[in-house]
Amino acid sequence: MNFELNETQKMIQETARQFAQDELAATADERDEKELFPYEQIKKLGELGFMGMMVPEQYGGAALDALSYAIAMEEISAVDASCGVIMSVNNSLVCYGLTKYGSEEQKQKFLIPLASGKKLGAFALSEPEAGSDATNQHTTAVREGEFYILNGIKNWITNGVNADYTIVIAQTDSTKGHKGISAFIIEKGMHGFSRGKKERKLGIRSSDTVSLTFENVKIPIGNRIGEEGFGFKFAMMTLEGGRIGIAAQALGIAKGCLDAALKYSKARKAFDKPIAELQAIQFKLADMATDIEAARLLVYQAAVMKDLGKPYGKEAAMAKLWASKTAVKCALEAIQIHGGYGYVREYNVERYLRDAKITEIYEGTSEIQRIVISRAMLKD
Ligand code: CAA
Repeated sequence: MNFELNETQKMIQETARQFAQDELAATADERDEKELFPYEQIKKLGELGFMGMMVPEQYGGAALDALSYAIAMEEISAVDASCGVIMSVNNSLVCYGLTKYGSEEQKQKFLIPLASGKKLGAFALSEPEAGSDATNQHTTAVREGEFYILNGIKNWITNGVNADYTIVIAQTDSTKGHKGISAFIIEKGMHGFSRGKKERKLGIRSSDTVSLTFENVKIPIGNRIGEEGFGFKFAMMTLEGGRIGIAAQALGIAKGCLDAALKYSKARKAFDKPIAELQAIQFKLADMATDIEAARLLVYQAAVMKDLGKPYGKEAAMAKLWASKTAVKCALEAIQIHGGYGYVREYNVERYLRDAKITEIYEGTSEIQRIVISRAMLKD
């Protein structure tokens, strides 16, 4: 087993780390406070090739592997988890799905601008009554000649305010259960497509989240991804890759917490010495570092298995389950180490805790990850 990153992966890590320090660190707290979308920063991430990392060059992407993507996600999210999720949705839920399952026409029209960062994508699966129970879709797409007529509501859509293209999952034949679900690309400005008000969230507040409403939206048949009835499997297969991205985001948040806790504990004095010299603090730091390293190994394992073309759904679920738990735990410990300073906004560890919590919820809650893992184990 090789634990060394190759030269490209090291270069991606360094580039992402530098970008996070130079372009995100100074403004992350203010954007969180004011709930400002990072337009400039996302544009620059696009110019770096980070918005379509796994897309082949011929479709505007950086042609990198899933491990490089996970490494970049970790570094970006260690400083700004909101930028992390915007990048993750565009990369894994939109660009990857189109690369793997889109038609040539869809790749030319939608993937090239999405992968090069000129356009932004969103992925709309969740509904008011279909969160974890994703097969319970109420949004309908009824075929009329060369079009589908789309009606329904989608909830909690990351990038929903700013997306140019949104992949929407909808029921095309309610008699067939999950086999009657299909996937479509909806374009901004289509008649009957509207956005609700921006959600006010606990964390990742610099990213946007909205509900979407479709009232008789006329979608050309060419915007359907794959065959009719392929939508649920498309969503599940796309989410497997997405879970690596969110696991890497959680890993990044945990690393950000450890970096902050280390820095603070070396600088802060109590009982006539830096608190880093107190065993109570040292044990916390050791536990955080160990949990983070375990999370990193799980994330890397899932990414490498994806790159090798092996099944990786269980490994992606394990990585997300562990990394998200680690993010929350490390954020709490970082606050504890900072004491009162950790609880106020002067130091940014309270933002890390607010950002960490969502990683246990979106792209499948921790309970859903346990379902995926246990089903895979029992099937083996
Ligand atoms: N790959 C391919 N096919 C898959 C699959 C996978 N990973 N997982 C399931 N399927 C197939 C099954 O094989 C089955 O097909 P067949 O009948 O042909 O065998 C079909 O899909 C239905 O599967 P299940 O019977 O397992 O379905 P279920 O109702 O028991 O649900 C579930 C399975 C895992 C719980 C699923 O509903 C799920 O993942 N729920 C969570 C949804 C989720 O992650 N939402 C995230 C929203 S996006 C988001 O959060 C983005 C963001 O904001 C950042």
